[in-house]
Amino acid sequence: MRTAICVVGARPNLMKIAPIVAALKAQGRFKVLIVHTGQHYDSRMSDSFFADLGIPAPDVNLEVGSASHAVQTAEVMKRFEPVLDQAADPFVLVVGDVNSTLACALVAAKKGVPVAHVEAGLRSWDRAMPEEINRILTDQLSDLLFTTERSALGNLVKEGIPEARVHFVGNVMIDTLRANLGRAVPVAATLAENGVSLPGPRHGVLTLHRPSNVDEPEVLARLMGAARLVAAQCPLVFPVHPRTRSRIEQAGLDRGLAEAGIVMIPPQGYLSMLGLMRDAQLVLTDSGGIQEETTALGVPCLTLRDNTERPITIDEGTNLLIGTDAEDIVAAARTILATGGKGGRIPEYWDGKAAERIAQILADTLGGSGAA
Ligand code: UD1
Repeated sequence: MRTAICVVGARPNLMKIAPIVAALKAQGRFKVLIVHTGQHYDSRMSDSFFADLGIPAPDVNLEVGSASHAVQTAEVMKRFEPVLDQAADPFVLVVGDVNSTLACALVAAKKGVPVAHVEAGLRSWDRAMPEEINRILTDQLSDLLFTTERSALGNLVKEGIPEARVHFVGNVMIDTLRANLGRAVPVAATLAENGVSLPGPRHGVLTLHRPSNVDEPEVLARLMGAARLVAAQCPLVFPVHPRTRSRIEQAGLDRGLAEAGIVMIPPQGYLSMLGLMRDAQLVLTDSGGIQEETTALGVPCLTLRDNTERPITIDEGTNLLIGTDAEDIVAAARTILATGGKGGRIPEYWDGKAAERIAQILADTLGGSGAA
């Protein structure tokens, strides 16, 4: 039996791998080996997701931790190689666009081990974004490319990737969302758990973690200023990524936030985050995954970036690309709060069955005749 090495590294990988591992195990055509690179290591950024989503504990943890992009990527590569060498007839499945995704794809490709990339072909056309480099290179290295939206195929073909390698399967992140929506933690329970309360019955959600938004003090100050103005109309729950928390504290931007209606809480587990988003009046974010999750939930989303690699959330979903200008953000939020925002529809194949499609294609292409 071939070994399907399923790689995870950072928080957004975990909700993507969960349904794939479940589908591969149910299918029984491959031995499944879960490798956690340890790019994220705090229990709130990693362990709690394994528990919430029922992902089996990793078979291997490479424990790379935080470092510069070069060091982190190189450490994953060094530590992943012996794992790959020891696996029986492996292929490597990577998801998303984090440093761990590229690192493991590169090790495998150089050894002639097949690589499957889930969430292929997304492009922001912004090479200042570390994830964009990871996306382009991982796609070049992959033998099987699974896409979440049809626009991805055109992006890949333009980069010379043969169409036959590309399979439109839908969105595994939405598989996870649909499977868990009924288990979402109510907002009141999340607030109580964190010892905080909201000044009114309504709430919005704010998340920020992109280096372009949080590493530049002037940009971060502008975004937090806009958030204060939005919060004056609708209080914002703000689960704070560790990177963002340290930048906010360094810049002294946390002073008076609670009084302004911005409730900071630690990074939340998947089920709490789902509850916060589901019942929100609006979501302000720079996350890629949250743009997709709000589209699936039908909740208005303002994306605090100048570009998105997920255009379907704008063309068909509830997402609006608003940028980082404070006046634009506040005006758009006011419109949403007054009108409910633009409507949306659920994109094609965001139907909860993407992982099953992936497992089937993997069995057909890499399963071999004697693998069953
Ligand atoms: C990474 C991904 C990004 C993804 C994000 C989700 C890359 C290039 N970036 O960004 O695409 O959207 O994860 O969260 O792969 N830290 C902790 N605890 C942790 C992990 C990180 O405190 O468990 C802190 C450290 O100070 C670290 C910083 O966060 O230096 C940044 O972590 P890193 O993994 O380098 O990038 P993220 O910003 O999390």
